Amino acid sequence: MFVTRKAEFSASHICRVAEWSDTQNHEFFGEEANPSGHGHNYVVEVTLEGEPDPVTGMVIDLKQVKSILEEEIVEPMDHRFLNYEVPPFDSIVPTTANVAREIWKRLEARFDSPAVRLARVRLFETADLYVDVIADSEMESALDGELAA
Ligand code: NI
Repeated sequence: MFVTRKAEFSASHICRVAEWSDTQNHEFFGEEANPSGHGHNYVVEVTLEGEPDPVTGMVIDLKQVKSILEEEIVEPMDHRFLNYEVPPFDSIVPTTANVAREIWKRLEARFDSPAVRLARVRLFETADLYVDVIADSEMESALDGELAA
């Protein structure tokens, strides 16, 4: 059984490769490379897999899920400039794919009980674009063919 909880945060970012020229960055990332940065209202859906407890009927304590999402995602990322305030985005490009992977890493360590496991992190950068990170897979897929930035 899969249980999904949603969280939202707003953050700014710049998508540029430090080793590239401004022209190269603009050609590849377009407006996403604008040096002043820009913001997104991110929506993240975190899916956990497990079976309902025979007594409580709950796969996991949902209060606990909410507080973990607050601690690992919302508090460190909401109203932050990802490139400057949220490691590792001082050294890797904060594309949707990389932010989703970082969220996965942070949550994976917190959902380590044998009864419940992290199954999927879905991160929307806009209503039209999301990236999935799925358990036991190195594959992340953007919904459409556009650049996941
Ligand atoms: Ni952007």
